[in-house]
Parts: sequence; C-alpha cells; structure tokens
Amino acid sequence: MKSRLIKKIILPLVTISAVLASSVVLAARYPGIPAVTDADFYDDGVPSDEKVELGKQLFFDKILSGNLNDSCATCHHPMAWSGDGLSLPVGEGGRGLGITRDTGVGVDAIHERVPRNAPPVFNLGAREFIHMFDDGRVTIDPDPESISGFISPAGNQLPAGLDNVLAVQAMFPVTSGAEMAGQAGENDQADAAAANILAGPGGVWDLIAQKLQEIPAYVEMFKQVYPNEVFIAEDITYVQAANAIAAFEARDWRFDNSPFDQYLRGNRRAMSVNATKGMLLFYGRAGCSDCHSGAFQTDQQFHAVAMPQIGPGKGDNLPGYSDGHDDFGREQVTGDANDRYKFRTPTLRNIALTAPYGHAGAYNTLEAMVRHQLDSVESLHNYDQSQAVLPATGTALDDIDFIVMNDAVRRDAIAAATELDRISLKNRDVDALVAFLHALTDLNAVDLRRDVPATVPSGLPVWD
Ligand code: HEC
Ligand code: HEC
Repeated sequence: MKSRLIKKIILPLVTISAVLASSVVLAARYPGIPAVTDADFYDDGVPSDEKVELGKQLFFDKILSGNLNDSCATCHHPMAWSGDGLSLPVGEGGRGLGITRDTGVGVDAIHERVPRNAPPVFNLGAREFIHMFDDGRVTIDPDPESISGFISPAGNQLPAGLDNVLAVQAMFPVTSGAEMAGQAGENDQADAAAANILAGPGGVWDLIAQKLQEIPAYVEMFKQVYPNEVFIAEDITYVQAANAIAAFEARDWRFDNSPFDQYLRGNRRAMSVNATKGMLLFYGRAGCSDCHSGAFQTDQQFHAVAMPQIGPGKGDNLPGYSDGHDDFGREQVTGDANDRYKFRTPTLRNIALTAPYGHAGAYNTLEAMVRHQLDSVESLHNYDQSQAVLPATGTALDDIDFIVMNDAVRRDAIAAATELDRISLKNRDVDALVAFLHALTDLNAVDLRRDVPATVPSGLPVWD
C-alpha cells in the first residue's frame, strides 16, 4: 500500500515539482533578455529594396578598389559567411577567394599582411553596435558641433550625410593601401590614400565617385535611390555609396532567427537540453555574460582577454621594441595605457560558422576559442601555431607572423593585462557551452550563395 502510494501520488508530485522548480530556477537565473525585434535595427529593419540592391552591387564591385582587383566581398564573402576563412586577410594583390586565396605574384604580390582578422558582418545594422572595428575607432560623436556626427580616423575630413556608423565604416577600406587602394605610384586612389587626402576634389572618395559616374547602370541606380540628390551623373558621391552598402549589410546580413531567438520568443524547447544548459552556464557560472551580455552577446565595450597576437601588428611598440609588431587595441584610439590589449567584445551570433576567431584570427575551432576564455593565460602561452590560417607569401613577411608569440616578454605583457579569471569547468560543461554557441546559428545563414550577384555594373569579375 505504502509503496503504491509513493509510486502513484508522491513520485509524480515530486517529479512535477522538480520540473516546476527547475523552470523557476531557469526563470530566476535566466537574464531576462528581450527578444530581438525590427525596431532594434536601422530603418526598423526595412531599408528600401533599391538601396539594398545598389549596396549589394557596390559591395561586390572591384570598381571601388584602386587597382580594380578586390572588393568588399573579397574579405567579407557569402561563401565564407561574411568573412574570408583566413586568420588575416589577403588584401589587394592576392588572387582567389576564401581559404584558397594566395598572396599574389611578382610586382602585384601583397606588400604587407592586413594586421587584423576580417570579422563577420552579421547583425551590424542593429543600433546597439555603436563602435565599429575591434578598437572602436569609428563611433558616434556626442559633440553637437561635429560636422559629420561621427568620430573616425578621418577626423574633420569625414563628410556630413552618413546614415550611421556602419556607413561610416564603409568609407575606410577604400582608403587603405593594403585593403583596397593599392600602393602609392600604382593608381590615383592609392596616391591620394598615401597622402591622406580623403575628402574634396582629387581625394580618395571623389576619385571613386568619378569612376561610378562613368558607368550608366550606376547612374540610373543612384538616381532611383536618391531622387532628391542625384539628377545628373556628377551628383553621385561616395557618401551615397557608403549609405547603400550599409543598407545592404544591415538588411541582408541580419540573422535573428536562431534556436536561441526562438527560445527568447517563448519556445522553451527551441534549443537542445545541452544547449539550454550551456546558456545557463554562459549567462551564469561561466561568467561569459560579464562581457558577452544581451541578445547579441556583447556589452559593446572593450576588454583584455590575452588573445594570441599573430601577424604584423598595428605599429605599436612595447618599451624596448621598435619593430611595430605589437597591437595595443583600444589604446590606439584612446591613447590610454589602461586600454592596452583591449578589444571590443564581439557579437557571438552565427559564431559556429565564422572561424578563425579573435582579433588576429588565432584560433581555428570554437572549442579552442572557448577553452581560451576559460584559462586565457595558459592558452596564450601554449598556443598551437599550426592552427593559424595564413597563406604563405614566400617572403620575409612570413617571418613576422609569430614574432610576438615567440617572444616571452611580449606574451607576458599580453597575459598580464587579461581581465579573465581562470574558470574550471568539466568537459561536459565545456561541451554544453559550445552547444549553446551552436544554437546562436540562424539556419538562414548557413548557405549565403543567394547574396552573390551574377554580375556587377562595372563588368569586373565577381567570382574571384
Ligand atoms: C583586405 C580585406 C578587407 C576588405 C577588402 C574589406 N574589409 Fe572590412 N574589414 C577587414 C578587417 C581586417 C576588418 C577589421 C579591422 C579592425 O577591426 O581593425 C574589417 C572590418 C569591417 C567591418 C567592421 C566590423 C565590426 O564588427 O566592427 C565592416 C562592417 C566591414 N569591414 C565592411 C567592409 C566593407 C563595406 C568593405 C568595402 C568597402 C570592406 N569591409 C572591405 C578586412 C577587409
Ligand atoms: C572580460 C570580458 C569577457 C569575458 C568574461 C568573456 N569574453 Fe569572450 N571575448 C571577449 C573579447 C574582448 C573578445 C575579443 C578579443 C580579441 O579579439 O582580442 C572575446 C572573444 C570571444 C570569442 C571569439 C569571437 C570572435 O568572433 O572571434 C568567443 C567564441 C568568446 N569570446 C566566447 C566566450 C565565452 C564562451 C566566454 C565564457 C566562458 C567568454 N567569451 C568570456 C570578452 C570576454
């Protein structure tokens, strides 16, 4: 009698209350993040179709580069999930796409490696992304007197009329010798870029606008998208181009329908049990959300996490060094030594698709990356260089790739700055964290071939 009572009444009650208790725990420990909505994005998520289409054509058109040999898509390609699959990108001079890209031959070969990883461009049309680039060198200017409304490396040269920080960002790749302009002496755009003449007649942006003005298909598109600004070809500006590029990035590369999003919208079974456990760890005991907070997993701030530094660096020098191979991150923008080795907390949306990871693309698997965040100092010192994805140049450039990582003094300096505590997790908890990160993948992002236009108005090749 007693045992039947236990079986029939008490056990079910215990089970029900356990389930209730765990969902109470879940609700209590769960950070209460609101689901992503249209209102979180510029233009409430619906820029005009014509503007998006123009932006897409420009994004894939090598006409924006000085030597007509690369486009934005070279480093942010749909086939590589809006990155390039490399640790560090191969800019103008290289040949091919994604991980098959080489470093070029003869006089056209690359002259330097681009010092930072080409990050994915997912969800950057959400208004909360107020800092562009790993060091946040593009942001909104709170000063009401500001001409452009933004702070950027162009200072007062930055023109008015840019829609948002994403559009401001699009002003810069075309001014970089290694990325899109080319070397001084090779073309007008490269000469202007090398002399830091960006705005005004003969500046980088004007030279590109002139190229666009000569292509009838672009003139028609610009007239249609900007009916109050563009009446004749000469009215076309690079600012309009940048605004259209931003509209394309914002709309077509918005991905907020992952299992995690469905979970936030109320489907508590959208994620696997393991991923749900990982979410609780992520927003709980593992401390990830101290920095990776909110629906996009970023506080939009800058933190030092002892990420391995590979490649040529950004011209910084620790005391005693003069080769410029360090990358001080946020300190480059603020000049404050307290910001040394700090980088912006990246969003983790679609993260399972976008290896390699970190500002120099040092880690090639999600698990290695997560294990770094759990024990950053150990992971930095034991970094396995073979996972770096760096197409060889066959020149002295290759000798610089691991110069910082092979130097204990430089490594120690990076390690000393880390803000991460060492966290000890069981292997199955690490698995759960990785499962959660996989639940941030929107299945619509898995195959992005639809984003590649068949042709572009300049007639330059699209698929190489
Ligand atoms: C040669 C490779 C290369 C090309 C070409 C290139 N980019 Fe990038 N892009 C990068 C790298 C590297 C970074 C990160 C640099 C940093 O943070 O210091 C970046 C950063 C960005 C970001 C900022 C992402 C973020 O989270 O802050 C956006 C947006 C972007 N690029 C769009 C573009 C557009 C638009 C173009 C064409 C006008 C373009 N890129 C051309 C390599 C490239
Ligand atoms: C102190 C703040 C902080 C904490 C805590 C933190 N992260 Fe990060 N995370 C960052 C920053 C900053 C970066 C980028 C650093 C860089 O590139 O140098 C990053 C990078 C990453 C990346 C690579 C993203 C990319 O696109 O390359 C992943 C994945 C990641 N973190 C996961 C986690 C997980 C999982 C946890 C918890 C175990 C965690 N992080 C804890 C700040 C933090």
